[in-house]
Amino acid sequence: MKALQEKAVKVLEKNWKDSFSIPCEGLYPFQWNWDSGFIAIGLAHVDMEKAIQEMETLLNGQWDNGFLPHIIFHTETDTYFPGADFHCSYLHPAASKKYKSTGMTQPPVAGFALHEMYKNSKHQKNTLSRIAPLLDKVYKNHQYFYNHRDIHNEGLVYIYHNWESGTDNSPLWDDIFSTMESPDFTFERRDTTHVDASQRPSKKEYDHYLNIIEIAKEHNYNDEKIAQFSPFLVQDPLFNTMLIQSNASLIEMYKIIGNNEDKIQQLEAWQQKSIPSFNKKLFNKELGAYIHYDLRNEKPLNYISSSSFTPLFANIPDKEKADILVNTMMEKFGNDHQYLCASFDPTSDLYNPKKYWRGPVWINVNWIIYNGLKKYGYTTIAERVKNDSIALVEKFGFYEYFDARKNEAETGYGGNNFSWTAALLIDMLNDN
Ligand code: GLC
Repeated sequence: MKALQEKAVKVLEKNWKDSFSIPCEGLYPFQWNWDSGFIAIGLAHVDMEKAIQEMETLLNGQWDNGFLPHIIFHTETDTYFPGADFHCSYLHPAASKKYKSTGMTQPPVAGFALHEMYKNSKHQKNTLSRIAPLLDKVYKNHQYFYNHRDIHNEGLVYIYHNWESGTDNSPLWDDIFSTMESPDFTFERRDTTHVDASQRPSKKEYDHYLNIIEIAKEHNYNDEKIAQFSPFLVQDPLFNTMLIQSNASLIEMYKIIGNNEDKIQQLEAWQQKSIPSFNKKLFNKELGAYIHYDLRNEKPLNYISSSSFTPLFANIPDKEKADILVNTMMEKFGNDHQYLCASFDPTSDLYNPKKYWRGPVWINVNWIIYNGLKKYGYTTIAERVKNDSIALVEKFGFYEYFDARKNEAETGYGGNNFSWTAALLIDMLNDN
């Protein structure tokens, strides 16, 4: 295991660019929001200074209104599409004047990432003084979410683009895309010059992705207009779980820091509203799992994906619901022929074991599920998720995603030497 950790450290060293990490060479040459949070969790075990800088650089990209972009374009490179010139973040009046970015966000992991860094710090006092100003930025980010993205005031925030979910081309979005008539854009794909096209989203899917951005741009990325006009408007259980766990982490950290009663009160008020709404609106009893809700078309998206199991991470289900959830996971995703945890229901016709978020295992979601299972005392299954993650990396390398079929998998997929795979493996290897 020591050798594996050393390899993981090398991956992170290679992907470090002065003050932040890229997810992987070639395919993703900038700073990605939730990647940075996961990377910082791993870095904290081996180089706290870098972990802190990772988060400082990410949060330096925050907009004046608290919004935190999904990609920060620190450099000019045309090896990625769609880049800064397509996104035009300057259209929004509150956008950062310093950094070009996208006008969309990603699952809000910064709060719990900072908490994890603090918990694993050998010099907690020093770490705390560095991360305290960052916690205030995260708090401002959460204010942004509840003020601008909770249109029914129910404690559940929306995402307006599939890229905001982090689970880019999941079959979850197929129904929404079928309601859209997107133009046939002319553009040059860059991702498929790095990775085989069979492992990446299709051209038609990219047309939808670009179309949603064009609509947001027409409204200068104004949240209220996006809520009114975006064809994609979803309450995502993974995204909201990240926000709720980050709220909980901020509460704990502010208690340690002291003198932050007003913020703690506000955070607790958000929790008290969000968690019951989450259980009421996003739990499907028949499926025995949490599901997504399509706000634009006012209907639940009744599919099971790895996101369905993540609410364990933020203590959202009660014990009864948690038992149901874990049963569903083990029945559909967890037989002896499968590595946990496929990103989409392996019993569904839409499952594709090689294609990105349509089936393969992703180590960041495994890390979330592993930690969630532990919180409820499902120790054996948690160990299985951890051991499956380690086995996949040992066998194939630090890939972006992996085939969940034990007998058929021959290689890892997507980008190699992928940062969060390395970082979260370090965290799991150091967690007993
Ligand atoms: C892909 C993933 C997304 C991740 C990004 C950078 O787009 O779907 O979740 O943040 O790559 O690694």
